[in-house]
Amino acid sequence: MILLKLLSRSNWGIILAAFCFINYSPGMTLANTESVGWVDAKVLSDAVRVVEEIDVMRSKLAKSIDPEEIKVDQETFAMVCKPVGMQAKKIAQKKGWKFRQLAMKYRNPKNKADHQGIKAMEKFKGEPELQGFWTIESKLGKKGFRYFKRITVEPACLNCHGKKENRPDFIKSKYPDDRAFGFSSGDLRGVYSISFLEK
Ligand code: HEC
Repeated sequence: MILLKLLSRSNWGIILAAFCFINYSPGMTLANTESVGWVDAKVLSDAVRVVEEIDVMRSKLAKSIDPEEIKVDQETFAMVCKPVGMQAKKIAQKKGWKFRQLAMKYRNPKNKADHQGIKAMEKFKGEPELQGFWTIESKLGKKGFRYFKRITVEPACLNCHGKKENRPDFIKSKYPDDRAFGFSSGDLRGVYSISFLEK
């Protein structure tokens, strides 16, 4: 377990940790492994890479907004979380993955965390240095892998996820049941989740 924890501090560690866990063979390395059961090893590392890219994309877009210069409105939204959601959807469709962003304090009810998502968020809260981890999940009698990565609030996110009263008007009107406010920089905002089920 200690080995798994140490390894999980880097992306490759996460993958390697998943391999060791799944195969019960701690000596195995990525180099000599081509598949983990029914999943190609490359698919697992690809998933981790894609999630990182999506996270960097949102961070860059959020930083590009300066509320002093532009009014944060519907059009600005089109420049931050919307393209992120669209990109995640596009990749998921192309690759055949289930790729979601989940939150307990969600803005779009479609992103409400399921039971496993809530458990993942609790794990991230309890282990502040943990960035991502794999779990094994079964659904409808099929085996599956699921990867979770933490989503952290940055100062630039507070334009739209900060104080309730400071939210842009379009958010107040478009999301009447909004719960995704009141965050501070460094808080856990939610998780990315990618899952694969046995075909
Ligand atoms: C311009 C306003 C704006 C900024 C800046 C912004 N967000 Fe969002 N965010 C939104 C809106 C609006 C939604 C709802 C999207 C939808 O309808 O799917 C959202 C949704 C999300 C979601 C999906 C879960 C949910 O609650 O529905 C996450 C996760 C998220 N934002 C994280 C962030 C992070 C992290 C940052 C900073 C790096 C950030 N956001 C910056 C407006 C913003």
